[in-house]
Amino acid sequence: MNPHRNPFAPGAGTPPPELSGRSHLLTRAETAISRIQNGRPEKSLILVGLRGVGKTVLLNEIRRRAEAQKFHIGRIEGHDGKPLPALLIPQLRRILLELDRLESINEHVKRALRVLKSFMNAIRFKTGEVEVSLDIDPETGAADSGDMEADLPELIAAIGRAAQSRHRAIALFIDEIQYFKPVELSALIMAMHRAAQDQLPVILFAAGLPQIIATLGNSKSYAERLFDFPEIGALSLADSIDALNKPAFAENVSFAQDALAYIYRLSQGYPFFLQEWGYHSWNQAAATPITIADTEMAGRRVEQSLDQGFFRVRFDRLTPREKNYLFAMSLLGEGPYRTGEVAKILNKKSSDLGTLRDGLIAKGMIYAPAYGDIDFTVPRFNEFMRRNIKDLDTALGKQHLPSGTARKQTA
Ligand SMILES: Nc1ncnc2c1ncn2[C@@H]1O[C@H](COP(=O)(O)OP(=O)(O)O)[C@@H](O)[C@H]1O
Ligand SMILES: [Mg+2]
Repeated sequence: MNPHRNPFAPGAGTPPPELSGRSHLLTRAETAISRIQNGRPEKSLILVGLRGVGKTVLLNEIRRRAEAQKFHIGRIEGHDGKPLPALLIPQLRRILLELDRLESINEHVKRALRVLKSFMNAIRFKTGEVEVSLDIDPETGAADSGDMEADLPELIAAIGRAAQSRHRAIALFIDEIQYFKPVELSALIMAMHRAAQDQLPVILFAAGLPQIIATLGNSKSYAERLFDFPEIGALSLADSIDALNKPAFAENVSFAQDALAYIYRLSQGYPFFLQEWGYHSWNQAAATPITIADTEMAGRRVEQSLDQGFFRVRFDRLTPREKNYLFAMSLLGEGPYRTGEVAKILNKKSSDLGTLRDGLIAKGMIYAPAYGDIDFTVPRFNEFMRRNIKDLDTALGKQHLPSGTARKQTA
């Protein structure tokens, strides 16, 4: 069928033609948005789930709804090693300048700008990380202790007060929140706590991998009073069918029932996989309806496309030893995996692999669903590893497993 009219949209953060199965969460977010706007307390939301389940597109949709309600928006994405203040400051600065431009001079807005300036000075002094400038005198003694857990709450409170004085509200959006350090997360939680206590119109919407729950550690019980952690996962059968059928119908195309069942079985309802299957099945089919034969024929392309994109992107950033570790996991079949079992395959003591494991968690490749267990953050990653074993042989070089173990167990 005409590839120009193909509605499916595989890709990280690419909006799907139909945002299926998330209406309850959107309703919840909209309620939170309107309550905050009306000066009522509301919990912030942290969407938690594996890669490719649709956290980013959901976060973006919530942001559009907040924008429609005239919220001032701050938007950041966590990176490996990038400090939270360095990302947050330019956003907070822009929000304050927006508030400053709104009407006549407002003392709360001016004060918040001065507090931001002193916060920036303290951070710059500590890390040299701040790139933007602010042409105002600092409010000495406010948010400039250099202790982020004290300074960030003070800064957010000043900014919240500024928004309140303008009858506006602020929504902060943080994607890939698992990349921030525990102390940064704790500062963020304390900041939101302060905003809630002072009844300020500030809300946080975030998304992250499951390890975020563990990273919160000591702050966890505290965080649970301020945040909800809805789990974002694979779609149900009915929602998966909607995700495929609705965009097709809009183009006067349909899927045969058995084709839908086939795609659901192989994608397991994971949104990223559904988009890939929809996309390649469409291009494969000569006419509507798209048949099971079309989808079967599309399978090879789906696999290639996932291997070169979804699976490959993060894989390429790993060291040979890290790849080796993931490979050992994949040899054990389906997760979660006992860390001791993985160590056994690698002929190591589990305790000797702690640093390697922590590195893989920090890179967002694996997480610990329970003590002593690990699993992949990318659905079906074990199959990707096993499928690409030949390529990996080259990648792993001398670090490769003794060939006996690997071959026997993959065969
Ligand atoms: N609810 C949904 N229904 C259908 N497709 C979706 C849905 N959510 C996400 N997708 C698709 O899944 C892919 C991954 O979405 P993304 O938001 O990047 O996931 P994550 O941030 O969890 O890794 C994208 O191609 C997107 O269009
Ligand atoms: Mg994402």
